[in-house]
Amino acid sequence: MGLDAPVAEVSEAPFLTFCNRNAKALGATGQQESGLQDRPSAQQIGGKFDKICIQRTQEFMRTIKGGQMDPLPTKLEEFRSREYWDSFFRKLDKKAFEWYGEWAELRDLVMSACSPGLDILVAGCGNSELSALVYDQGCTRVTNIDFSKVCIVEMLKKNVRARPKMRWLVMDMTKMQFPDASFDVIIDKGGLDALTGEPGDEGASAGAAFLKEVKRVLRPGSGRYLCVSLAQKHVIDLLLTTLGPGWHVTIHQVPLPADGSDSPFRTYFLDVRSMATSPSAGRRFYPVTLAFDKAQIAGTRRAGSEITEARESQLRDLMAAVARFNERCSRQQDACQPLEPAADDFEAYHPGRRAVCYLGLDNQVANPTQSRARYTATVLDAASTNQNGTAAETERKHSGTDSSSSESSASTSMGSAPARAHRCAVFLVPQGREHEWLFASEEGQWQLVEQASAARLILVTLNRGHRFGSSEEVQSELSPLVEGLAPLPCRRERRVIPYLTTNDGIGKRTILDEAESQITGPIVVEDVELDSGSQGTFRRLVFTRNQNLVQSEAALTSPPTSANGDAASKKKGGRKGGGQRGEVGERAVDHSLLTSEYHAAMVAGLALVMPLLEGYEETNGMARVLVIGLGGGGLPMFLHNHLPLRVKVVELDPVVAQMAQRHFGFVEDDRMQLEIGDGLKAVHAITASVSTANGTPPCGNGAFPSENHQVGSVQSTDRPRNESSPVNRTSERNGNSTGNGASPERPEGARDQRLDVLFIDVDAGDASLSMSCPAPAFLEKDFLLTCRAALRDGGMFVVNVVSRAAAPYASACAILKEVFHDVYEFDVDGDVNRILFALRRTESGQISSRSLSESAAQLLRMGKNHGPWGRGPLLTNLAEGIKKLA
Ligand SMILES: C[S@@+](CC[C@H](N)C(=O)[O-])C[C@H]1O[C@@H](n2cnc3c(N)ncnc32)[C@H](O)[C@@H]1O
Repeated sequence: MGLDAPVAEVSEAPFLTFCNRNAKALGATGQQESGLQDRPSAQQIGGKFDKICIQRTQEFMRTIKGGQMDPLPTKLEEFRSREYWDSFFRKLDKKAFEWYGEWAELRDLVMSACSPGLDILVAGCGNSELSALVYDQGCTRVTNIDFSKVCIVEMLKKNVRARPKMRWLVMDMTKMQFPDASFDVIIDKGGLDALTGEPGDEGASAGAAFLKEVKRVLRPGSGRYLCVSLAQKHVIDLLLTTLGPGWHVTIHQVPLPADGSDSPFRTYFLDVRSMATSPSAGRRFYPVTLAFDKAQIAGTRRAGSEITEARESQLRDLMAAVARFNERCSRQQDACQPLEPAADDFEAYHPGRRAVCYLGLDNQVANPTQSRARYTATVLDAASTNQNGTAAETERKHSGTDSSSSESSASTSMGSAPARAHRCAVFLVPQGREHEWLFASEEGQWQLVEQASAARLILVTLNRGHRFGSSEEVQSELSPLVEGLAPLPCRRERRVIPYLTTNDGIGKRTILDEAESQITGPIVVEDVELDSGSQGTFRRLVFTRNQNLVQSEAALTSPPTSANGDAASKKKGGRKGGGQRGEVGERAVDHSLLTSEYHAAMVAGLALVMPLLEGYEETNGMARVLVIGLGGGGLPMFLHNHLPLRVKVVELDPVVAQMAQRHFGFVEDDRMQLEIGDGLKAVHAITASVSTANGTPPCGNGAFPSENHQVGSVQSTDRPRNESSPVNRTSERNGNSTGNGASPERPEGARDQRLDVLFIDVDAGDASLSMSCPAPAFLEKDFLLTCRAALRDGGMFVVNVVSRAAAPYASACAILKEVFHDVYEFDVDGDVNRILFALRRTESGQISSRSLSESAAQLLRMGKNHGPWGRGPLLTNLAEGIKKLA
């Protein structure tokens, strides 16, 4: 039996003791350690540690929060839940909480693997001080990840000044967004245990997913994974089976704390090393080494006590798991045979197999955040292909491709079904299109296998950060590399493997700028040109840690020509002054075109608030629009350039803002203002300013462009004074009017900061969430109520939602309907984006009786009156796609 099979059944419930080492947090609060160090009863030791620990953690949390807390989880699976951890860190209120061990006990073990210059990842970092202490030893190349945004934001703030080179990223450790072979050391204190809370179920798969990521992102042959764990049997079994061959594990016992505090468990330190210095070393299994004296298990002063018993039982389990593994190892190694088929054995077809390989390793790659491999190849074996590389009729029913190619050969084992056109083909993904669904998602890739009619498709992407020549040069470089990925029949017959691609050829990518953001991770600005030229050249803002997410895209105009007809010289640093086009670099960004249909739909949605906009128009005023999320600035620039609006943008990441200004022609002026900060807080500031009697916002800057001088003004000059406006009339009818259109929340005398339209266009910063836009906090009911209060009557909340799962989208719609009543939707064709428009109204029917397309025509007219419309979107068509949610 191969070692990949689970080595043991695990029957008893695992114990989870995340509360045993919280002395530090207690010390920080100066509270008593009430009950935390009570010894467990014999009954408790009998397999009920989870409950004890949850209870104790609850006690601890009550102590630090004066009993104002919700209870902590009653189920272990909650330790895998982001919501749980977010609330955990919120409740801790910035106090460090060390799981499992303090620096004093761990320092020697950790520092035996860390040295300056190494790339170190701390996975599931929590708010432990460990990474800061490693940094303070001179190891400054430390990256911390945790899926709790609350924790990461807090840790970033805490460390940004003292430890500026340390990175803090919100990231799921089971789905990391780093290129392969990125780190020399991975430190994990309590993370694997948290993920692998329960054996056999989802816990095991979450733990295994994390370990697979550890294997992927560690540098082969030298990488080390340092895992601080209770080393429970199910965790050890999972670790050893998931690691497979090529890894050597040494287990140390973490020294007991000097303060003599007793815990029923010992903490272990697993030092896992990659041995893949050669192909054969990479295929060997290495027996686990125990680096402690088994006779001194307990280290306790009370031999025979309950604590000793608990520790003995913990160690017995660990030893049993290790012995079983080592026994299998020695048996198979004695036979001097590889223990399992090599992972890279591509001679045979394995129907349904999808394996990712990296080709053309280039150790000289300049940017360490980018893949060292020139190519990423995904090998896809069609679902029911037989060993000859032919496929059954059933598989072909969606293909619609011609199978009459000269390569069609053998008939299938099922008789009459025609063969696939290709036994094996390479598909080159055009540079700049790798993020598209067809190429990036598993589902899309399988569809491509069908479209290409290939029994095996090798999907090749050309990795960012490497230079590539022509399509022919790429093919001749790739041919020897993909040979090893071809199935045996092709190799035997020495067939030339055909290359397929789209009309766009291999495209061309020019990187204009790269930056590392503390908030967003690596950011790239690139120009992408597709060979067909049909779609022109685009400038893109890409967040590379987020599955190469194209955050923003802008169309470029033709290169500007100088007086003598030459292309104008390159000018970095962005355009100064306003205007229609952002002149940046060699090409100018064309702000008259919204390349993303979802942005165009957001603009078209303004048709829903035409009465409000027309009210302003009649008084030469301007509506106030807040856009949260700048990206490349395409949406706010379009709004600013084409419509009579005052636009304010709030962006969290200053590096993103810098990129928008430098490369996307984003500029501020008297109608466009940029604020770097948290969009959630910005909306709160506006609402607070509405309810502050003296009109001064208590925090943040709720002010809009050109309005900072209007202190205490009730009658802002740009307020709509159109008495016939349905909005104002309705307010008066309801007895709500302050005489200036303000809502009841706004007291007399306060400066009215309220918004006419609020656009939310932010990503969640974590591609693993089922809803990747916006971040969950933007759709929480409390925040939506705040947004509602920040809007004028007749105002509108607009949000871009990207959700692959139906349930979170449905619940977003339900909450919006609860808060706003009138909610509209635009489903972007062929894309995952959906735009939700929610109107703040005091009674329904305030929208004019015009149809949406008539209102959109009005909007278009208003835009044209304001300035040149350029290549603007087809507003009337888009507006017709906006549907009211029942
Ligand atoms: C037991 S705590 C350990 C915290 C820290 N390493 C320490 O030693 O104090 C587990 C941490 O893992 C994080 N975590 C759990 N599941 C995660 C996941 N899938 N991705 C990233 N972080 C995760 C939690 O937010 C929490 O901070």
